[in-house]
Amino acid sequence: MSLIKLPRAEASLGHPLELLLARRRSVRDFAPGALSLVQASCLLWAAQGISDARGLRTAPSAGALYPLGLYLVAGDIAGIEPAIYRYLPRENAVERIQPGDRRAALAAAAMNQSWLADAALTLAFSACYARTTKKYDKRGIQYVHMEAGHAAQNALLTAVALNLGAAVVGAFDDRRVAAVLGLPREETPLYLVPVGRSA
Ligand SMILES: Cc1cc2nc3c(=O)[nH]c(=O)nc-3n(C[C@H](O)[C@H](O)[C@H](O)COP(=O)(O)O)c2cc1C
Repeated sequence: MSLIKLPRAEASLGHPLELLLARRRSVRDFAPGALSLVQASCLLWAAQGISDARGLRTAPSAGALYPLGLYLVAGDIAGIEPAIYRYLPRENAVERIQPGDRRAALAAAAMNQSWLADAALTLAFSACYARTTKKYDKRGIQYVHMEAGHAAQNALLTAVALNLGAAVVGAFDDRRVAAVLGLPREETPLYLVPVGRSA
């Protein structure tokens, strides 16, 4: 397994929360240009990183069961090749699971929202519902969706702090996005967060 260790992201970004909230806006116009591996690491860590010696994460999780998968659709990140990577919170690393630039395929699978192909990277959240429903039964499905909202908002506010543009995308064909990401059968794609330099 080839792991790419990520730079530490916990260094304070130095922005008061109110400023980030006031500045957050959906950005769908991206300028060309690579993001750094540090920026990618900050976004991944904000979404699902470990922030506690007990293994607890930046976003809350019902029963601390952590049913979300987090994938990095890397198109233009300095130092790593375009590919689909899975984020490994415990290792603070990414593991390549599909080679190649998959941004155009992802845009096509998202109802042809062509701006997704211009984002330097997209964070893609998946759900493994069974992890939460085995404890909380049907209510666990709602919990998983709530958690995706928490995690995506963390990533959006971090994008603002990094002076990057980002938005969220829920309009896509589940089966096609699952195929683009190469998700295992037990995972369903939930939410996409394209990020790039603001135009
Ligand atoms: C659940 C959800 C799904 C969304 N899906 C899309 C989408 O597929 N494409 C898109 O361009 N924006 C999408 N958006 C972003 C909204 O269009 C955007 O948040 C709204 O226009 C308000 O603008 P703001 O984010 O700048 O405040 C989605 C937002 C949410 C909360």
